[in-house]
Amino acid sequence: MAKKEAQKKERYDKRNTLNDLSGREWLLLTKSIWISEKCADDKFAFQHPAPFLINDIRKLVKFFTKKNMTVLDPFCGSGTTLLACARENRKGIGIDLNKNYCQMSRKRLQELELKQNQQVICGDSLKEIPAIKSKIDYCVTSPPYHNILRHSGGGLREVKDKDVRNGARIGVEYYSNDKRDLGNQTQYKDFLRLLKEAMIEVYKKLIEKKYCSIIISDFTVNKKETNASGDVIKIMQEIGFGFEGAIVLVQDNKPLYPFGYPYAYKINHHHQYILNFRKL
Ligand SMILES: C[S@@+](CC[C@H](N)C(=O)[O-])C[C@H]1O[C@@H](n2cnc3c(N)ncnc32)[C@H](O)[C@@H]1O
Repeated sequence: MAKKEAQKKERYDKRNTLNDLSGREWLLLTKSIWISEKCADDKFAFQHPAPFLINDIRKLVKFFTKKNMTVLDPFCGSGTTLLACARENRKGIGIDLNKNYCQMSRKRLQELELKQNQQVICGDSLKEIPAIKSKIDYCVTSPPYHNILRHSGGGLREVKDKDVRNGARIGVEYYSNDKRDLGNQTQYKDFLRLLKEAMIEVYKKLIEKKYCSIIISDFTVNKKETNASGDVIKIMQEIGFGFEGAIVLVQDNKPLYPFGYPYAYKINHHHQYILNFRKL
């Protein structure tokens, strides 16, 4: 009996410099499929058109950092990454161009009494990342998906029970009218260029051998299905990051749209990719 209990006990390897996880916890998070999970903290974010779910980010922060390490989100929107950092006792730095989203982040942190060690910077990431004084242990972010929110189908969804936004689309909202907004680039190549410039600044701030995760899905550009995740991997490798693998983040409860029906196959994207990179 005592032997069984001992086996059940979590084992922590003293050589582990990456995180505070036991071997079993580590192994579970290396699965290439994650099912996205909602929690009560998510409800404050639904005035933003594309928030992360906090539990997904908590898992990433737990895997790629130890307690008190510093995490950067250069496109932090409603501040989900900062909430995840606060819940996991990490220091968070979040940047967003849109003042309203920065206010939303601060309000979320304040209402949940999680402001300590979390910094919200309002401005253009390309300018603000170089101004950060500290080095970064981990970067997790999701940039605008080119200009898809400006398509007629993008935008806000109906809020149904318990503030969970999984209902029908009720309107179009894009992030801002600012020219520096990655979501306002008419040309896909300009979106990729600005993303690359921002990620070059992240690379400079990141400590050697540390990790960076970008959450993105494939989407249409000029109505053509485009392998955006592949393009992001390519620009990250050009910067000097090593690609360490993609996690498929399953979002199975989104509504289905009959985009091509009844003439052609058009995919409904019900997953995101968490693309993981390492500073070589
Ligand atoms: C996909 S959303 C991020 C959502 C976020 N993960 C959350 O949980 O709320 C992308 C964000 O990038 C911001 N953004 C776009 N261009 C930017 C830039 N040049 N600098 C900083 N933020 C920018 C937008 O305002 C938007 O909030």
